[in-house]
Amino acid sequence: MLNDQSIMALIQARFSCRTYRNEPIAADLRRQLEGFMDTNRVGPLGTSARFKLVAATEEDRQSLKGLGTYGFIRGATGFILGAVGEGAKNLEDFGYLMEHIVLYATSLSLGTCWLGGTFNKSGFADKLGLEADEVMAAVAAVGAISDRRGLVDRVIRRGAGSISRRPWDRLFFDRRFDAPLTPEAAGDYATPLEMVRLGPSASNRQPWRIVWDGTAWHFYIQRTPGYGKGFSGRFMTTDLQRVDLGIAMCHWALTTEELGLNGSWAVREPAIPRTDDLTEYVVSWA
Ligand SMILES: Cc1cc2nc3c(=O)[nH]c(=O)nc-3n(C[C@H](O)[C@H](O)[C@H](O)COP(=O)(O)O)c2cc1C
Repeated sequence: MLNDQSIMALIQARFSCRTYRNEPIAADLRRQLEGFMDTNRVGPLGTSARFKLVAATEEDRQSLKGLGTYGFIRGATGFILGAVGEGAKNLEDFGYLMEHIVLYATSLSLGTCWLGGTFNKSGFADKLGLEADEVMAAVAAVGAISDRRGLVDRVIRRGAGSISRRPWDRLFFDRRFDAPLTPEAAGDYATPLEMVRLGPSASNRQPWRIVWDGTAWHFYIQRTPGYGKGFSGRFMTTDLQRVDLGIAMCHWALTTEELGLNGSWAVREPAIPRTDDLTEYVVSWA
């Protein structure tokens, strides 16, 4: 449960909102969101992060000035900024913590949209006071959802295939990458897997792959050739597919917890032959 609401309902309700009502987020919602952000500081793999809400208020509608462009987002009156320190799994931890905030915002009936590429990095870095040893992997727009979805919003959602997701047999496997795992065979874990499947990902690439080996669930990235890795902006290295894996971990952990399935994370690569060089082991849950 998150804010007295079912995690599964929140995961299903979330979508990338790109058209917002041009009104400040209500003061009590801002306070609740900030309160949650303050408690959400260490990722499951041990990296610390910090988050900040930058939002217009009734008194100051100009607070977002200077942030420049942020792609296709229209009317957003708030942004969730985040920074993570150095660490082997820092981007996964960042994705996990930011998605937890996104789901909390969803529980407040706010719209959100992850932004990893189409935003002005330096403006946001200034607002956050980004330190040299920190990475701002992505930000999220947040605000009141507009009833009227703009044209751009509709086109992007169709273009990015936002509503569509890869089928199970391309994502989840039984002991080997060439043996798909069916929902029936997954048993109690079919729901957590489905919640991973519904998660947001950069360009809707859905790079997460999960292999069940009889005792543990192993999470991998299936990298998109030439995408993300190695690209580096002025203030960040944007390996967004690692952030996507953190989002998948968040959906998995919150759902299993809600279903009373106990487990914990460990980084211990199993001896499962990988399909190709673009498949990269991340973490296991048992
Ligand atoms: C790490 C990350 C970065 C993203 N960057 C952008 C972005 O720069 N611009 C944008 O419009 N959407 C961005 N998205 C949103 C995805 O396009 C969206 O999650 C995906 O198409 C699935 O659609 P849905 O969120 O509506 O389910 C990003 C999502 C993630 C997870």
